[in-house]
Amino acid sequence: MDLRQETQPQKSSHFFIPPFSNKTDFTYALIFFFITLLITSIVFCNFLTPFHPRLLPFGFPKTLPDTQLQPSTNTCDYSHGKWVWDETYPTRKYDEDCPFLDPGFRCHRNGRPDFGYVKWRWQPHGCDLPRFDAQDFLERSRNGRIVFAGDSIGRNQWESLLCMLSQGVSNLSTIYEQHGNPITKHKGFLSIRFQEYNLTIQYYRVPFLVVIDDPPENAPAQVRRAVRVDKLHRFSLKWAGADVLVFSAGHWWNKDKTLKMGWYFQEEGSLNMKMDVMEAFGKSLQTVKSWAYKSCDPDTSHIFFRSYSPVHYRGGEWNTGGHCDLSKAPETTDNINPQTSEPLNNQIMLDLVKEMETTKRKVNFLNITYLTTMRKDGHPSRYREPGTSHQAPQDCSHWCLPGVPDTWNELLYAQLLSSGFRVK
Ligand SMILES: *[C@@H]1O[C@H](CO)[C@@H](O)[C@H](O)[C@H]1NC(C)=O
Ligand SMILES: *[C@@H]1O[C@H](CO)[C@@H](O)[C@H](O)[C@H]1NC(C)=O
Ligand SMILES: *[C@@H]1O[C@H](CO)[C@@H](O)[C@H](O)[C@H]1NC(C)=O
Repeated sequence: MDLRQETQPQKSSHFFIPPFSNKTDFTYALIFFFITLLITSIVFCNFLTPFHPRLLPFGFPKTLPDTQLQPSTNTCDYSHGKWVWDETYPTRKYDEDCPFLDPGFRCHRNGRPDFGYVKWRWQPHGCDLPRFDAQDFLERSRNGRIVFAGDSIGRNQWESLLCMLSQGVSNLSTIYEQHGNPITKHKGFLSIRFQEYNLTIQYYRVPFLVVIDDPPENAPAQVRRAVRVDKLHRFSLKWAGADVLVFSAGHWWNKDKTLKMGWYFQEEGSLNMKMDVMEAFGKSLQTVKSWAYKSCDPDTSHIFFRSYSPVHYRGGEWNTGGHCDLSKAPETTDNINPQTSEPLNNQIMLDLVKEMETTKRKVNFLNITYLTTMRKDGHPSRYREPGTSHQAPQDCSHWCLPGVPDTWNELLYAQLLSSGFRVK
């Protein structure tokens, strides 16, 4: 429960007190006094027990419809809009000193000369994104766990969220990796504690989400690995019970990273040499769905499938001299057709989300593809981590931080708010 929402401008009329006038002064003063007392009590009680408004004698009842809390969010489609140049944006943003950033995402430190790419703000059509309020997000997440699972683009977003949320904490030393592991390119998982909030925010590296195995015996010679679409990675045991789960999959589900490398798909113990990549992706998501039905609380777990994050190689592919270092500004909406920038992965994720919604799960499609397609200027390009050779390919698939994934997290926050995250 967040009180700041209750006192935002459009709600304040409830508490409006007309100016005092002669003989009714005293009555108004009395009413004003009691209203002030009421508000103070609510603020105070909620401050003490932020997630148990139910316990309050006169807190905002749990029956308060979400629409009343968040007037615009339920109906707004944040995926559609435009990038606007905004000198004041971001008002309280982190910078490259944030200790949770991969060296490869600190683009200025790695020599990128232009600063414009952090000054573009996403403006949805017909509504505004709620202002990202780190303290509110942290307060709602108290005693909880947020999990990012998937590929390195998910890691990009995870680091962005850590830095955005650390703005709401006064003592950075109270945020730390639970096992003392450094935040560098890392296999396995990382688990960051926000001590003041008893909150853990984790990243699990599982590019396919499912198990990658040795091929079964008597497999054809060209099979080097088996992608087992019906068996989730063992890390999934650790995702159970998370309050927020953000899946980031898609970037490895292409021919180059599977079939062409001799990675074939396996189902029910046997290889299916004919299974196509998108069919396999769909099946792996079905496996995620079955897992979620077993392991996630339908009332408290918020599950997100983040849509595809486009790459921007020009003049070649990533490994044939493709580049993006000449892009200094986003594409405009005139140049990008949302439909043609839509990969099949997204439709498969959306279908899954719709299917899961029918069982009253809190599941969301975080559709960032269109807004991200326009941000050809947001990649590290040639300004990669220190020590990278000049001959190395440019990075036109990950994102500089601060940068574009901050907007994804603003959408994540907005969607959490509209699905009543931790308002019980
Ligand atoms: C994602 O958002 C874009 C822009 O609003 C839209 O054109 C596209 O259809 C959406 N994708 C899905 C799968 O809903
Ligand atoms: C921290 O959160 C966990 C749940 O994630 C809870 O079991 C534990 O009691 C909390 N600790 C404190 C000190 O509140
Ligand atoms: C910040 O937190 C660390 C770790 O808990 C603690 O040792 C240090 O005293 C704190 N610093 C301040 C100024 O509170």
